[in-house]
Amino acid sequence: MKNFPQKRGRYTDQAHVRVPTGTFELEHAREGFFSEEASHLYVTEPPSHWHRIEGDLRPRAVDCRKIVTADHEDPDALPTQLLSAAVWCGKKTLSFYLSKRQEAMPYIYKSVDGDEIYFVHDGYGRIETEYGVLEYERGDYIVMPRGCLYRVIPDDDRTFMIIVESISPYQIPDRGLLGPHAIFDKGVLRLPEFETPREKWDQDEYEVRVKRLGRLTKMWYDFNPLASVAGWKGTLCPYILNVRDIRPISMLNNHVVPTANTTFQSEDVLVTTFAPRALGNEETLRLPFYHRNIDYDEFIFYHEGNFFSKAGIEPGMFTLHPAGLDHGPHPKAFERDKANMEKLKAEGKDVAIGKSTAINFDTTHMLFGSAEMASAEWDGYATSWYDQAKEMEAEGKKFGPVY
Ligand SMILES: [Fe+2]
Repeated sequence: MKNFPQKRGRYTDQAHVRVPTGTFELEHAREGFFSEEASHLYVTEPPSHWHRIEGDLRPRAVDCRKIVTADHEDPDALPTQLLSAAVWCGKKTLSFYLSKRQEAMPYIYKSVDGDEIYFVHDGYGRIETEYGVLEYERGDYIVMPRGCLYRVIPDDDRTFMIIVESISPYQIPDRGLLGPHAIFDKGVLRLPEFETPREKWDQDEYEVRVKRLGRLTKMWYDFNPLASVAGWKGTLCPYILNVRDIRPISMLNNHVVPTANTTFQSEDVLVTTFAPRALGNEETLRLPFYHRNIDYDEFIFYHEGNFFSKAGIEPGMFTLHPAGLDHGPHPKAFERDKANMEKLKAEGKDVAIGKSTAINFDTTHMLFGSAEMASAEWDGYATSWYDQAKEMEAEGKKFGPVY
């Protein structure tokens, strides 16, 4: 079937453009939409509008603003686990954590379980490492290679960071024919400032904690290992990329799939940034098509703005859509998009711009939530598509295809 599309019934030859009137587009695709193997079904009823759901798989939405993390209460604690993949052949492949640290770590830390990405949703401060000092701020991705010693030192009380640990190393993807300067130029990466002195740490001994398979080994030195490095050379060190430096690929007349804007990748996860960008014009799908992303669980954390395909989701929340369940835009997002397009047309403009920022982690591993995650869950999210359509109908607004 590869490279040979079959066609039956009503369809459009160019995916995402001029969808047949009265239908919604549903993409059934492998490998997060970049595989050659994909089909589009044109359906008259949206596939995420079930009115009841039971079983292990269900869409989940969590308000991280409501979670009080262990490290918020006690500086000695580690971040709080939100989700993790099943242990695979004795290895823990992927874990998600939340940190709201108020005070500096009274220890130095090293994960041997994987590379870590810290995404700074809010707050600023410093991370001291063997390679130098990283100053972090809101919107930063901090990429910390496995085995690097570091210490987080917040400079304010707003710390709100999502941490995703991957057993396979994070890499910056090759941009292929787009060239190396597309999306972001590696010149914008911030590296540790080696000359910045490490904080004077007024104590008799320095504790280092090493995490392996979630278990900690602690050791104590009578010197600060972060301050005893005289110099370094090589290709492995922590670095920072801020989301404002991401210039996403977007098209004025077609929908671009998320994987086109992959920011980092490992063998276990793709990290995509939904940065402000053109969403499309009147004849294209500006909101995502409904999709059956059969190979990936999708975790999206909402950082800034009103996310274009959701209604009822605010910055500081995340959603989890497990592989196998069809999903797509909320009915109220369609309504907002339609009104926005009409307003643009009245102003003589024809391209919609999305101004929100979110970060997306797609993984082939099935993700399981923690009790802390469940404590801040939006209970009605799994049926929110159906419920919103009913609410609109009650207000006399009929929900249906906009094309
Ligand atoms: Fe999705």
